[in-house]
Amino acid sequence: MALALEDVLIGSRATRWAWKPLLRRYLTASWAPLRMRPGRAAFTAVLRQMGVYLHVPFCRRPCGYCPYNRVTYDAALHETFEQAAHREIDLVAAAMAEARRHAGAPPPAITSLYVGGGTPTIVPESLARLLAHAGEAFGPPEDVGVELHPAAADDPCLDVLARSGVTMVSVGVESLSDRLLRLIGRSHDAATAHQTLRRVVARAFATVSVDLMFALPTQTLDELDKTLEGVLALGVDQISCYPIFAFPFTELGRRMRLRQIRRPPAALIREMLDLIRRRAGQFGLVQNAVWSFGRPRRKKFTSTTRHHYLGIGPSAASMMPGQFRVNTFSIDEYAAALSNRLPTALVMPVGRQLEMTYWLYWRAYEMRIPRAGFRETFGEELESVFGSLMATLERLGMTRLENDVYCLTEKSAYWIHRVQNEYALNYINHLWGQCRREAWPQVVRL
Ligand SMILES: C[S@@+](CC[C@H](N)C(=O)[O-])C[C@H]1O[C@@H](n2cnc3c(N)ncnc32)[C@H](O)[C@@H]1O
Ligand code: SF4
Repeated sequence: MALALEDVLIGSRATRWAWKPLLRRYLTASWAPLRMRPGRAAFTAVLRQMGVYLHVPFCRRPCGYCPYNRVTYDAALHETFEQAAHREIDLVAAAMAEARRHAGAPPPAITSLYVGGGTPTIVPESLARLLAHAGEAFGPPEDVGVELHPAAADDPCLDVLARSGVTMVSVGVESLSDRLLRLIGRSHDAATAHQTLRRVVARAFATVSVDLMFALPTQTLDELDKTLEGVLALGVDQISCYPIFAFPFTELGRRMRLRQIRRPPAALIREMLDLIRRRAGQFGLVQNAVWSFGRPRRKKFTSTTRHHYLGIGPSAASMMPGQFRVNTFSIDEYAAALSNRLPTALVMPVGRQLEMTYWLYWRAYEMRIPRAGFRETFGEELESVFGSLMATLERLGMTRLENDVYCLTEKSAYWIHRVQNEYALNYINHLWGQCRREAWPQVVRL
């Protein structure tokens, strides 16, 4: 059964051609392909809560496989970025306050403030200023999460984070094998990663998460196992393990002359995921997202799964009621635009059905689909909109209803990854690829 489904949903180009419009119609209530076009950011007063994401697009030595918007650190350009980001925070906060004033609505609760990159701690004092400003402008966040590069997290930097109210960190360890770190061109070695992690765990952060990559070229199961043991033995609260993807627009993708995202072999991913799940379980971590395993009852480090969020910085995306939008990727254009307007490059209207699908996608990614959450967010029953899909998933053994929550089974984790690879990563590929080439694209077909 599984094989037949894989053939139909993802299999050949011909079956995908037949299925994708049907699936799109079911999930978005429209036959039209998703398109993003130039437009203005819309602000609404009707927002009970939102997350804030800040993007810092600088790295000391950018990695050739990395799809994120980042450039090599340059002090003057960084200064330009920081001034512009403060201005964006002020403009957005003013526009949101104005929308609320008309409606007499209270400000939304800020569920989280995440900083990603790039390397957010590349200039720790600059990060501290931006965190303080965002907290003043949007309201105090419940949690503050920051991505850390092992070579940009010394003790003075960790002091700055503690003083700035950072509650969660995620360290980009990737591997504890020097051979593999060299192979993928990382700028740190295993000893640095290990020492950084030891110092981070000793601090009072509520959640310490670690990013690892697997299915690296020539990586053995034994090498992965040693990395997992080394990281888990330090007592981290969460690990996120990603199979390395080759995006066509990255240096790696260009070297491989790719046109589509290249994924590692399915059998290897399954085998390595099984090992990760087993090892994580031995250290008390359970799967809490497709690629993540966390300590039960600890807060999860995740910057991607808020329903509504506001993005600040070059390339940052925002998902607001009725609109998805993306800032320009170019740091110079971002700063120039902010002299008199917001740096929005592309917008896409989001109808109710698409917003529901978006919600469902991220809950599936988190492996739990709470019926009450759907009811609270949209005022109707999940099954009244996605009844046939939920029934099919249950029949296929992908979900189990427990205490009003559809829990996704282990079997479905692999499937979500496959569907994510085929659909979501391809959307990212089109959007990010084009936005990297042009500061102000005229249209992006997702
Ligand atoms: C923005 S980076 C983390 C923060 C910091 N810049 C660093 O590299 O340590 C986010 C994570 O995405 C993962 N990642 C980046 N490029 C990837 C790719 N091509 N395939 C799979 N995972 C990738 C890595 O695990 C990386 O740590
Ligand atoms: S993986 Fe991290 S350090 Fe490497 S280029 Fe991407 S953001 Fe920078």
